[in-house]
Amino acid sequence: MPAYTLPDLTYDYSALEPYISGRIMELHHSKHHNAYVTGANTAIEQLEEARATGNLSAVNQLEKNLAFNLGGHINHTALWANMSPDAGGEPHGEIADAITEHFGSFAAFKAQFTAVGAGVQGSGWAILAWDSVGERLVIVQLYDHQGNLTLGMVPIVLLDCWEHAYYLDKLNVRADYIAAWWNLVNWEDANERLARAKTQLNGLIIPA
Ligand SMILES: [Fe+2]
Repeated sequence: MPAYTLPDLTYDYSALEPYISGRIMELHHSKHHNAYVTGANTAIEQLEEARATGNLSAVNQLEKNLAFNLGGHINHTALWANMSPDAGGEPHGEIADAITEHFGSFAAFKAQFTAVGAGVQGSGWAILAWDSVGERLVIVQLYDHQGNLTLGMVPIVLLDCWEHAYYLDKLNVRADYIAAWWNLVNWEDANERLARAKTQLNGLIIPA
């Protein structure tokens, strides 16, 4: 059994139109995400082989491959659930209260998150994350799929800023893609993730 499998989407590829085209969703899920799943499983298998043979000469590259591909798998799995055809608008519930508490207002949060996504250099992600050490929401930039993050954080809302996420629809204008994406944010999913993060992760790494 492979360690990782490609999850099914809970909506059709075309369900996010007109904000994200069905063609992009199909390629993004069935090609890009699938490649990360395959890459992560390959890295696991090659590390098993390296241990079995005692030949660990390629361990640095294998570890990098595992981090990159497993990061791609994790990020995209959360990304699909973070979006919904019947979503967008302003948040509600616990996530709305937490955003106001930690960013001042939804408008201030939205402006910072948009700037962080637009500013990602090269390939990467903008992420609203729960920091289980500070017990607060933070916005972070993730380089590629796995860089520039500290341990202790879990994603609540992710925005894929790789060109493969928008180039077919928006060409080089990432700002238009981000503006459209706000119409798809699934705040219900964000509420569920925030509740799990608070109850299951706070104090895990640095006990209170
Ligand atoms: Fe992606």
